[in-house]
Amino acid sequence: MSAINRRRALTGSAAVALGVPVLAACGGGSSGSTAVDPATSDGSSSPAGGGSSGDALASAADVPVGGCFVVSSAKIVVTQPTEGDFKAFSAVCTHQGCLVETSSDGDIPCPCHGSTFSLDDGSPLSGPASAPLAAVEITVDGGSITRA
Ligand code: FES
Repeated sequence: MSAINRRRALTGSAAVALGVPVLAACGGGSSGSTAVDPATSDGSSSPAGGGSSGDALASAADVPVGGCFVVSSAKIVVTQPTEGDFKAFSAVCTHQGCLVETSSDGDIPCPCHGSTFSLDDGSPLSGPASAPLAAVEITVDGGSITRA
């Protein structure tokens, strides 16, 4: 009788263990208003962020035409001003260092104080930021975008 109870107990434990949901990582997306080191946000230094040459940044399908996609982990924003034309910039706002946001509204917006930047060249379109986002070299191969 106790063997049956033990088996039931084990079966019950296994069911509980199998019932634990697997947490999936959230892929990419907006970074919100996360501030980063302002020392790297003056636009005069190399682009902020981690990663190195050859690192996969995004799928081309992630980047809306006429919009941008922020790769938070690399602090890079990839834009597609016109279909099939991809560019990338530091995602660190040159005003006070917030990360810009993913958008499909024709510019690169910063959520902190409302600056917007050009999808084409990272130049500021509206303040308070007055310096451009630093360009980042990328390679587009098929549907994959990597750092050059
Ligand atoms: S930090 Fe981007 S507008 Fe101020």
